[in-house]
Amino acid sequence: MRILFLGDIMGRSGREAVKKHLPTLKEKLKPDAIIINAENAAHGRGLTEKICKELFELGADCITTGNHVWDQNETMLYITREPRLLRPANFPDGTPGNGHVVVEARNGAKILVANYMARLFMDPMDDPFAQARELASRNPLGKTVHAIFVDFHGETTSEKMALAHMLDGQVTAVVGTHTHLPTADGQILDGGTAFQADAGMCGDYNSVIGMQKEVPITRFTKKVSSGPMQPADGEGTVCGCLIETDSNGLTKNYGQVIIGPRLTNRMPDF
Ligand code: FE2
Repeated sequence: MRILFLGDIMGRSGREAVKKHLPTLKEKLKPDAIIINAENAAHGRGLTEKICKELFELGADCITTGNHVWDQNETMLYITREPRLLRPANFPDGTPGNGHVVVEARNGAKILVANYMARLFMDPMDDPFAQARELASRNPLGKTVHAIFVDFHGETTSEKMALAHMLDGQVTAVVGTHTHLPTADGQILDGGTAFQADAGMCGDYNSVIGMQKEVPITRFTKKVSSGPMQPADGEGTVCGCLIETDSNGLTKNYGQVIIGPRLTNRMPDF
């Protein structure tokens, strides 16, 4: 089974890039399931029902998020009606929505998708490590589900790498999101779990992590705010990865996906 994951969609540039390149990726890579982090899809802040519906129509089977999930008020209600939209599982008890869901791939296989938020340099959260360990032990690969995909939304590479090693051999893949920059550390760990510290964003890379450059530069240099940040609006580049599972639900092939006008493009050759 082949799972395509795309990192944080950032504003209109990201949405347009996904719309433009996803058909090509589907044709070339033939994914059985598509998972997309879209927590910055609505002008850089959260996501809307309309955007989610567009992504489902384009072929997304599950949408993951992170710290910006509630930036648009409507999402709190929409998430209660749409189980394929996830918020981080380690938000406090009583938060609307769910942090994991089982989706059916095009080949009929069941994929457990789980979304956690890291804690270093992020808002205080329940322990993602304890929750992920518990989820993996309740869902042995190949028994109740054919694959387990974890989107770990966080700032630091070390925390994301530690979670991946902790889950190695128990889940199909741990892929990080949130920093909006793709890392070059993609690999299959010893136990068969694919790992990449950050998938990178789908958005305009002629920017400061997806935002127009002037305001962030002023904030860093003058310690004053020169207005709200606005998403960069140039042509977007799509970033993500492709994972191919073996008969046990572990990863037999992993490859980075980068397609668009910025960054060195990469396309898996399996
Ligand atoms: Fe984020």
